[in-house]
Amino acid sequence: MKLLVLNGVNLNMTGVREKGVYGAQTLEEINAELAAFCKERGHSVDFFQTNEEGELCSRIHAAQGVYDGIVLNAGAFTHYSYALRDAIASVSVPVVEAHMSNVHAREDFRKKSVLTEVCRGEVLGFGKNSYKLALESFWL
Ligand code: DQA
Repeated sequence: MKLLVLNGVNLNMTGVREKGVYGAQTLEEINAELAAFCKERGHSVDFFQTNEEGELCSRIHAAQGVYDGIVLNAGAFTHYSYALRDAIASVSVPVVEAHMSNVHAREDFRKKSVLTEVCRGEVLGFGKNSYKLALESFWL
């Protein structure tokens, strides 16, 4: 399968910000692990991170007909971006929502995702392994 891992706002600060919540590994280190994880299982994976909401929407549009699935950690966009929700609904490529932290055990505003309804499923609370479990969901 050809898969895409998309990370949204502030995920470039992984390994630097709130290490107690998101761990000490950088996004580059996590992505390298995910690349090996997919390769060992015979799947290809691309990565993209942006702090821009519109760019994230454009990447989702461009994935149509190119990727078999998207793993999306939209960061804080998760909680309020109707634009992102509509972008996901615009394409037939399945999207699995992923979060490193257990958003339900944190602040109230994190408990609501405006994306889940248009996603195939959601994985959260397992640190970097949330990405692995979300990727795995495409070939299991
Ligand atoms: C996050 C959870 C969000 O609430 C937060 O804004 C993030 C990261 C996670 O991976 O746990 O930036 O998506």
